[in-house]
Formats: sequence, structure tokens, C-alpha cells
Amino acid sequence: MTATPNSRLPLRCWAEIDLAALERNLRLIRASLPPHIRYVAVVKADAYGHGLHQTVARLMHSGADLFAVATLSEATAVRELGPGWPVLLLSPLLPEEDRYLAEYDLAATVSTAEEVARFDAVGRAAGRPIAVHLKIDTGMGRLGVWHEHAPELYQKIADARHLRLAGVFTHFASPDDDPAFTEEQRRRFLAALARCDGINLREIFVHADNSSGLETMPGASPFNAVRVGLLQFGILPHPNSLLASVHTEPVFSFRTRVGITKTLPRGTTISYGRTHTLTRESTVAILCAGYGDGIPRAASNRAQVLIAGRRCPVLGRVTMDQTIVDVTGVPGVQCGDEVVLVGRQAGAEISLTEFSHWADTIPWETLCSVTKRVPRIYRTALGV
Ligand SMILES: Cc1ncc(COP(=O)(O)O)c(C=O)c1O
Repeated sequence: MTATPNSRLPLRCWAEIDLAALERNLRLIRASLPPHIRYVAVVKADAYGHGLHQTVARLMHSGADLFAVATLSEATAVRELGPGWPVLLLSPLLPEEDRYLAEYDLAATVSTAEEVARFDAVGRAAGRPIAVHLKIDTGMGRLGVWHEHAPELYQKIADARHLRLAGVFTHFASPDDDPAFTEEQRRRFLAALARCDGINLREIFVHADNSSGLETMPGASPFNAVRVGLLQFGILPHPNSLLASVHTEPVFSFRTRVGITKTLPRGTTISYGRTHTLTRESTVAILCAGYGDGIPRAASNRAQVLIAGRRCPVLGRVTMDQTIVDVTGVPGVQCGDEVVLVGRQAGAEISLTEFSHWADTIPWETLCSVTKRVPRIYRTALGV
């Protein structure tokens, strides 16, 4: 196990990142797909809170073909880790960021004619072509050229002397709960590509499927790459996902420790706003973590934690640095005991999906909400 440099002090609240599980997950996902499908690893937002450097280094070692990020600083960090890997920026660039495409050899997403002109100018100035992925909006209403206008934008890219088309892609709006609309998006995408004269799909990345999309990815089709974020971290996009059959395992767990325990009389009200009243004499444990660490306040009075493998309910409001749980039924709890917020303990488990549900949010947001003061502890060894 290795720790980040600032986590040499005893741990109060920490995230454990199992890089060996990440590697196994990538290999399992790849094995579940036809062999020609390339793997775009989505590592934006600090690799979904798992830590960009450690995650990307492990994914490079495990066989990712391309890294997709949101921001220029994420892209440059990936580039510095591996000069040979293609890196795709999924978000739009600001004009003053354009020149870094050449400097760091990055691929840009193109949605507009204005971007074509800007990136072509960067390639001209640098004396070598800039790689671009044409994004087609098939119904997400976010980035990309509207599918009916994609052939015109494709032609502009093809005519630009200092651009190299490295990929075409789209993004699904509701792949987890609207298969009919997902199918319609695939149809629009393929219809738009069919109208792009001279495009050679075999030579470029053709991608649409995020984790949920994999459930409905057609067998024989021009799609030759997937763009996976959540699933590689071992989290299913929704509880009934068919992807459970891939058997990925969670990479992330979230832990804290007991600060004090005490026994309070029946009728005591707990925490700010007095939203919980003890209905009996109770033993409570005050945990060393709160919303300042990433336990959402919305989980007040709803979440549970594991102590000694037993589920203990959160009482009252989560506060910035402490959370109060009922340990009346768990004998012998004491200062320093490990508490699982997300993860496994003594045969019991709280999944990230369950934790997110208590806070009325989604796993993606939960992972992005674990704060900077939480050290990430990396497990690196392979094995089971
Ligand atoms: C454009 C794009 N592609 C792929 C992904 C990966 O999605 P998922 O984490 O569901 O696999 C995302 C995630 O937000 C995205 O914005």
C-alpha cells in the first residue's frame, strides 16, 4: 500500500483506491467486448476522484488506447505521464488555450466551424497537423454539431490542411433508461456519417458508448471504440445494469474513524437543527468526518455506516467535521475504530450507489465530492 505524500499522519478520513482492481476491471471490460474495439478511458475530474496520476499510470499499463479528459490541465498531466498516448479533450477550448494543442500534442473535440478555423491556424503555426475528433450532437443538446449539419462540418475538417481527423463521436442522453432514444441517437449518428463523403471510419476512432451504452452496443457496426468512465471504477451505472455480468469490482472505498463514544438519555436531540430525537437511551459514536470530507449533508438522518461489520444509522444532521451514528447495538465501539462509509467490512458492504441514493445523488457526483482534505491511499498489488 502506498500513500499520497501528505498522508503520513494517522488517518482520520481517507479514500482507499485499489489500483489492482482497476486493472482487473479494464481487462474484464475489454474481454467482454469484441477484440477490435478500442478502449477510451475517461479520466476527467481527477479520474472521477480516484487521482489522475495514479489512475492513468495504471490504465496505461493495463491497455487503455486513448485517454479522454475535460480540461487542459488534465490533458497536460496525462501527456506528461505518457508521451505516446493519444489524449482527447472532451470539453471546448478557450481561445487562449488553443496553442497548447500543438505544444502538448493533444486532440481537440470539434463542434463548430469556428473551432475548425482556430485549430487549423494552430496546426499551421506549429507546422504539423492537429488531431481532432468531430463530435455529432444526436440528441444530447450539449456539445457537437447538430447531426443534420455534420457532413458540412466534416467537409470543412477534410479541407483544412492543418487538421487530422482522428475520430468521430456522439454522446447518449439516456442510455440507462431510454433504449429507444439511444437507438435513435445511434441511427442519427450512423446516418450522418453515411453522408460524410470520403470518410474512412476504419482509420479513426468511432465512439459513442459510455458505461451504460455498453448494454446496448450493437455487435457488427462501425463503432470501433468505447468511452468508459464509471464502469472501470467498478460501479454499475444503475442497480439493474446488465453490466453486472462483467463482474467488475469497486476501486474506491471511503473510510473514517470513531472520535468518541458516549451514552445519551432518551429524549436528547441530536446535532444542528435538532432533527433527530433519541427514542431510548442510546450509545452514539461521533465520527471524524463530515461534509467537509464529502459525506453529503443531504444524507443526514438517512445514511448508514459500517462499524465492526454492522450497519449503524446516521442520527441528525451531518456537520462539517463530524457525523453522529447510533452504535447502541454494537458492543465495544471505541475511539479509533475504523468506520466504513463506502466499501466492505467484515463481510458487509455499503456500495457507492447506495451511499449516493441516501444523498439523492448519483455515483458520479459522489466521487467528485470527496474533498481535497481526504488523502487517497493506493493499493497497488495484483492478486485477489
Ligand atoms: C462525453 C463523455 N463520454 C463518456 C463519459 C463516461 O461516462 P460513464 O462514466 O457513464 O462511463 C462521460 C462522462 O461523463 C462523458 O461526458
